[in-house]
Amino acid sequence: MIQFTINDQQVEAQHGWTILEAAREHGIDIPTLCYHEAVAPSGACRLCMVELKDGNWSKLVASCIYPVAEGIHVYTETERVHNVRRWIFEMLLATCPASPEISALAERYGVTSTRFSAADPDRTCMVCGLCSRVCEEVVGLSAIATVDRGVYKRVGAPFSRPTDVCVACGCCLSVCPTGAMQSLFDTVRGIPATIMTQLTA
Ligand code: SF4
Ligand code: SF4
Ligand code: FES
Repeated sequence: MIQFTINDQQVEAQHGWTILEAAREHGIDIPTLCYHEAVAPSGACRLCMVELKDGNWSKLVASCIYPVAEGIHVYTETERVHNVRRWIFEMLLATCPASPEISALAERYGVTSTRFSAADPDRTCMVCGLCSRVCEEVVGLSAIATVDRGVYKRVGAPFSRPTDVCVACGCCLSVCPTGAMQSLFDTVRGIPATIMTQLTA
C-alpha cells in the first residue's frame, strides 16, 4: 500500500490507483465530468484538478489520471484549485449553455454565471468523448467517435449518418454527463433512438 496525505489527512491506496480513486475511497469529494470507472480515464475536462504541494513547490494535476505516489501531499480545496475549478466551470457554462446538468453541477460548486460568451445557446455537448469511449471499451463497438477539430469538434456516427453498427444498448446515453446524448442519439441510431430515449428517460 502507498501512504500519502489528502488535505493533511493520512490515507493509503493501492499501487496503480489514481488520486481520484484514492480520494473517493476515503470519501473526499472531487468534481468530475469526463471520468467513469468503467473506462480508462482521458483527462479531457480538467474539472478534477487538485494541487500537489511540497514545501514552497506546488503544481496542479488532473486527479483522474495522476497516479498516487508515496509521501505526496494532495490538496483538493486550495485557492488555486478553487480558481481553476471556477474557470473550468465558466468555460463549461459557455460551451454547454443548454445543459441543465452542467448548470446544476456548477451551481453546486458556487458558479452561477460565466464571463465567456456562448457560441451556441442550444449546445449541450462538451465533447468529452465519454460516450464513444464507453461504446468502444465497454460495448466493444465504435459506433460513434469524436470527429473534426477545434470549434468543429463533435461526437457522432461516421459521416453524421445513422449507423446499424450501433446496437441501441443505451450505454452512451447513461454515461453522458451533460444530457447531450439524448438529442444526439437520433443522429446515431435513427428512428429507434426515439424509443431508446423514452426507455432511458
Ligand atoms: S454526448 Fe455527452 S458523453 Fe458524448 S461527448 Fe458529448 S457530453 Fe461527452
Ligand atoms: S447505444 Fe449505440 S452508440 Fe451508444 S454505446 Fe450502445 S452501441 Fe454505442
Ligand atoms: S474528470 Fe478528470 S479530467 Fe475530466
